[in-house]
This record gives sequence, C-alpha cells and structure tokens, in this order.
Amino acid sequence: MSKKLIVANWKMHFTTGQASLFLQKLAEQVPNYRDVEVVLCPNFIALQSLSLQINHRQFKLGAQNCYDKDEGAFTGEVAASMLRGLVHYVIVGHSERRHIFGETDKTIAQKVQAVLRNQMKPILCIGETKQERVDDETSQVIHEQISAGLANVTSEEISDLVIAYEPVWAVGSDDADSAQDVEKVVSLIRKNIKAMFGNEAAEQVQILYGGSVDGANCGPYIHAAGVDGLLVGGASLKAKSFAAIIYAAHAAVRYNV
Ligand code: PGA
Repeated sequence: MSKKLIVANWKMHFTTGQASLFLQKLAEQVPNYRDVEVVLCPNFIALQSLSLQINHRQFKLGAQNCYDKDEGAFTGEVAASMLRGLVHYVIVGHSERRHIFGETDKTIAQKVQAVLRNQMKPILCIGETKQERVDDETSQVIHEQISAGLANVTSEEISDLVIAYEPVWAVGSDDADSAQDVEKVVSLIRKNIKAMFGNEAAEQVQILYGGSVDGANCGPYIHAAGVDGLLVGGASLKAKSFAAIIYAAHAAVRYNV
C-alpha cells in the first residue's frame, strides 16, 4: 500500500492563537510517519504564523480556497499566487463553496488552473447531493463535475491533482457513506480520468474520501480499494480523534491492519 494523504479542513474554526495551540497539541500526539502525508488547512490569516511554527516534515499546509486571478481589483479575495510558497495544497470546490457561496464548475475549473499554474496541488472536491443520490444521478454528477472541473488540465498535471469524493449529504452530518459505495464511486472517478487523460493518469491521480470520518469509523475508508486518503472536517478539530485517523493510516500502510 502506498503513502496515505490525510487532510484536515478546519473550515472557519480556530483563531490564529487557537490554531497555534492546537498545532502544538497535535504535534505532541503525532509522530513523524514517513508513510502518511498530513496536511492542515487553517483559515487564511493563520497560515503565515503556522508556517513559522510547523515542523514541515511532520505536517504540510493547505488553503481552503483561493481566487483564480493572480492579482488585481478583487476586494476580499486571496490569489493562488499569494499562497505559493506558503502552502502545498489548495482545496477547490468544496461543497460549502459550491452550495453556500454559489461556486460553479466553471469558476472551480479556473481555480484548479490557478493552483496548478502556481505550483501547488489542487484538492478538487466533488460529490452528489442527497436528492441526486436518491434519483440515481451520482454517476452523472461525478462525470459532469470532473469533466468541467478538469477542463484545460493536461495529463502531465494529473500527478499533482487530488480529487476528494465528498457526498454533500455526508459532510458534517454524522451520516458517512458506506465504504462499499465509496469504492464504487472512486472506481467511477478513475474511469472518468482514464477516459479524459489515459491509463497512467487514472492510476496516478490521488483520490480521497470525505464526509463524517472520525477516529472511530475511519478504518474501512482507509482500506477501501482505490482510496488514497481522507479529507476530514469536524474530527480534525479534535487532536485525539485526528491523531487516531493519522495512526490508522500509518498502520494500514505499514502493517496492513
Ligand atoms: P466532515 O467534513 O468531516 O465534518 O464531514 C468534511 C469536509 O467538509 O471536508
């Protein structure tokens, strides 16, 4: 089993001071595993100070969003070019961005481009709503979000791309998808990537599951076929729970348990 990627999405939680204290606590509980890449995504203003505090071999940093233009009169926005050098990853198209802030597949595609252009790795979030799942539209939604979100990406860039499958109804709901269903959608995602970019790209693209994962239920997702890691919201705000997820990922790679 290859290296796992565990991403903490802290959303709009933690002031800069709280983020710093949390990082200190987490660093004490998480050894530096070489088989797990742990990425912390705090709010924008905490990034600079965390970047000075962090042990970069233990944790990497990510941003939760960015704007697609490199500079200009865009009040309130943070450009991907401003994150360059500060973070390794940028979450793009999270369901909260799509549904609360009205981001469209077109905007999301431009953000993916901006992140790649600035030498960082986009974590493109995709997933169906409850109604779409009930109406048996998951495959269609996944297909549309991938083809639109990755328009203009080249097959060479796929090795820098992470896709997070996050069914909208499973995010922040205590209603995680089943590992069997996750496997099915992940295989569908690889099929879509294969059709767009070829075999090698389909094997290379890293795919995460996210949606109500915690320290207690993470095992089956970490072991699910084709799943390279997890995107964690609520449980990433609790050091003990997040450390348990990281340990589970390490144990899966190292001992296959
Ligand atoms: P959750 O959030 O783990 O709280 O469901 C996941 C996410 O929003 O990425």
